[in-house]
Amino acid sequence: MQKDNQVFDLIRKELDRQRHGIELIASENFTSLQVMQAMGTVATNKYAEGYPGKRYYGGCEVVDEIETLAIERLKKVFNASWANVQPHSGAQANVAVFLACLKPGDKILGLDLSMGGHLTHGSPANFSGKNYEAHFYGVSRETGLVDYEHLEATARTIKPKLIICGASAYSRDWDYKRIRAVADEVGALVMADIAHPAGLIATGLLNDPFDHCHIVTSTTHKTLRGPRGGIIMLRHDFENPFGIKDPKGNTRMMSALLDLAVFPGMQGGPLEHVIAAKAVAFGEILGEGFQAYGKQIIANAQAMAKAFVSRGYNLISNGTDNHLMLIDLRNKNLTGKKAQETLDKAHITLNKNAVPFDDKSPFVTSGIRVGVPAITTRGMNEAHMEIVAGLIDKTLMNADDEKVIAEVKAEVNSFMEQFPLYPELG
Ligand SMILES: Cc1ncc(COP(=O)(O)O)c(C=O)c1O
Repeated sequence: MQKDNQVFDLIRKELDRQRHGIELIASENFTSLQVMQAMGTVATNKYAEGYPGKRYYGGCEVVDEIETLAIERLKKVFNASWANVQPHSGAQANVAVFLACLKPGDKILGLDLSMGGHLTHGSPANFSGKNYEAHFYGVSRETGLVDYEHLEATARTIKPKLIICGASAYSRDWDYKRIRAVADEVGALVMADIAHPAGLIATGLLNDPFDHCHIVTSTTHKTLRGPRGGIIMLRHDFENPFGIKDPKGNTRMMSALLDLAVFPGMQGGPLEHVIAAKAVAFGEILGEGFQAYGKQIIANAQAMAKAFVSRGYNLISNGTDNHLMLIDLRNKNLTGKKAQETLDKAHITLNKNAVPFDDKSPFVTSGIRVGVPAITTRGMNEAHMEIVAGLIDKTLMNADDEKVIAEVKAEVNSFMEQFPLYPELG
């Protein structure tokens, strides 16, 4: 068969882009070569609807072993008692939890999207806001921290069935215990969506949600540094408290309801090639080096935050506990959109982001989100954070000067030569 140069040339172009730019999108990372290699294998050819040992197709004995390995490794990573590794993405993992725990129209309570929450936590544009009655808590205008008092008051008033903690753009740790306390008071389940900080939780560097939150979901491609995908976990399997029945009318343990919600509830065949790559990534997390990686992420985020503050940038909550920071650019007379577009020209990639109580539309925004997991994977340390913040500042302070931006781009490209990416790929 002739090689499809049209596609592979574009993939090569994308590799070059990744190699030469500074990647600061907080939700991105670079997997190891073997994680990518596992994805590009014959496991993609196999249909395996169902679960290991209980499939609807023949010939599943090998993918059963792959999926079981992924599950067992993931359980070890988080000291969980049960895991489902089939969700195709983080959004799918959340869909499955909602499907397992809620009836259409039930009340849910999540962090407002405009305050750092995620679309799947109740946004009207998303299944979660369309099918359930979504209510929100926010962050304090003064501190930028989750307003737990508002969360508690709202929970007591509306009595949600599910409280969701976790965020896409929140730089501080969570008080899971406090959220569980009010959930118990009002009869709600708590779901922690740890898509962003999962790698830092796995390494014990942030609070552990598992003893306080009934259900934990995550993506696998952010700080966990695995392939693009989702997972659902329980440390303590519990009887479902609302007496929700499975399709056959039986009340089941939560793990069984969640399995049924993933398949046949909302997905068909699992992506066994991606599950193989998840298994590889979980093996890497359990192996040597990942703990040091987590520590370096935190050290880099701290150094980056300091470098921005020293240049007069306004950080929401004045800093970070995790891998990211949210910067309000209003005192610099820039919008998030302008900043993102200008930095793109200099091969520095990040995203515009609404800041809490933003007066601009989500298409413009007043802020940017800066994350360090990807550049930490590239091998950068605290000293490099100062250089990166300097390059960002130089670009933003000369946002209309194409000559300076071109100079920064050349600087960025030569700076990144020090941090080889996938040298094996030539
Ligand atoms: C908190 C949170 N949950 C869920 C998701 C959705 O993950 P995916 O894009 O894999 O569907 C994201 C993605 O950014 C996220 O930040």
